[in-house]
Amino acid sequence: MDDTGGSDFIVVANRLPVDLVVGKDGTQSWKRSPGGLVTALEPMLRARDGAWVGWPGVPDAEVEPLERDGLLLHPVTLSAGEVAEYYEGFSNGTLWPLYHDVVATPMYHRHWWHAYVRVNQRFAEAVAKVAAPDATVWVQDYQLQLVPANLRKLRPDLRIGFFLHIPFPPTELFLQLPWRSQIVEGLLGADLVGFHTPGGVRNFRWLATRLASGRASGGGKPGEIGVDGRSVKVGAFPISIDSARLDELARSESVRARAEEIRHELGDPKRIVLGVDRLDYTKGISARLRAFHELLEDGRISAEDTVFVQLATPSRERVEHYQQMRDEIELSVGRINGEFAKVGRPPVHYLHQALPREELVAFFVAADVMLVTPLRDGMNLVAKEYVACRSEETGALVLSEFTGAAGELSSALLINPHDVDGMKDALAAALSMDAEESRRRMRALRRQVLTHDVDRWARSFLDALGLPRPGETVPVDQDH
Ligand code: ADP
Ligand code: G6P
Repeated sequence: MDDTGGSDFIVVANRLPVDLVVGKDGTQSWKRSPGGLVTALEPMLRARDGAWVGWPGVPDAEVEPLERDGLLLHPVTLSAGEVAEYYEGFSNGTLWPLYHDVVATPMYHRHWWHAYVRVNQRFAEAVAKVAAPDATVWVQDYQLQLVPANLRKLRPDLRIGFFLHIPFPPTELFLQLPWRSQIVEGLLGADLVGFHTPGGVRNFRWLATRLASGRASGGGKPGEIGVDGRSVKVGAFPISIDSARLDELARSESVRARAEEIRHELGDPKRIVLGVDRLDYTKGISARLRAFHELLEDGRISAEDTVFVQLATPSRERVEHYQQMRDEIELSVGRINGEFAKVGRPPVHYLHQALPREELVAFFVAADVMLVTPLRDGMNLVAKEYVACRSEETGALVLSEFTGAAGELSSALLINPHDVDGMKDALAAALSMDAEESRRRMRALRRQVLTHDVDRWARSFLDALGLPRPGETVPVDQDH
């Protein structure tokens, strides 16, 4: 914070890192928000003493700014109609499926778009009010793609970064969007636009030079787009986790004891297979259940030896695609257990719940095989979390090649989630992998995850944005 009372470093994201919970008697409390964005950004912002602008997760909540665990939170209010049209509608019924390779059909509704425009402007105004002169603002994710340009109009003094946490789609898919030019122009309001992968960077550069009303050109320095005499940097910054913290937690006595207890509670099976996801159709949960089911049917694994635990955080429960997918998954779980369970011994344990962090880490420690099978995922932090928790270099990671994480975690067993036979073979191989191969692969995976943590990610983004590190003066025009 500076002496005008404004903040020098601000993260703005659709959600605050905590959701407001209003009890039946009207009492207010807060719980951790779901998803990888919060997992990654919260430790980074805490270390930098910053402020966070975002929605408290429930409609019509008028909440004063507050401080929580050393973070200054500035809530932005959304009405019930805006939650339906901007959040559930345009963000999660249009952009989410479009950016995830149309694995579900995106819907294009003009009234959803109008709500998105209105709410993005509100976020920009909220930031403009609380930012100190010349502050740095880091805008997050697909819900806020118009904020960079809106904010630049209101506060040209600010240094603005934007990071997309989900994939940036292939150009021919992006071109479906009726408001494609406005989105690209919104992003070009930033000084730096970051994606997880070089593919996202390429797609964006191509689109920017074609869609931004002829104002953008890619002819400048590599990694830059010229817009109206300004240059916008574009780069790939694969996000990560607080690896050292997880490694430490996973080694703690209490977590180790809980992991053993979990194995016992599951009936002391020879092998525990684990899936951990927000309940989202991009995560390929149905496909992994199918592979597990067929392996049982084929007699390649037995329900006595092998237990599958699927932990699924409830997510976007009012959006239709999510309701359908939940029904499908719960039907499959019921079928598998109906066919293969003995009393008190179901082969699939399904928890539609968000677990406390320590409990989740105990599951990672207990699991012999981790199944991460998205049809498309920007990064997938769960895969990295599993690796960070395997301090004994045991266990096997089965990982979809359509995740951003696959680019870094090449020693996992990589699979195509559309290929059921391939997935079955990989799961069977993971279940019977010898200790030597498991150690060799896990060692390589851990080397990557422990040396490329979220702090390194944030530093490389903020360095490219030209934010001076404490005690340092860095020229604004520094090259990435
Ligand atoms: P996404 O951001 O799409 O949800 P990621 O895998 O990148 O996917 O991040 C998910 C985050 O949510 C991880 O930090 C993971 O540990 C956490 N998470 C997922 N499922 C659960 C659960 N059932 N309980 C607690 N945390 C969960
Ligand atoms: C992904 C998105 C985030 C989002 C999170 C949880 O990680 O990239 O922007 O916050 O999922 O989804 P939700 O819709 O509950 O905020």
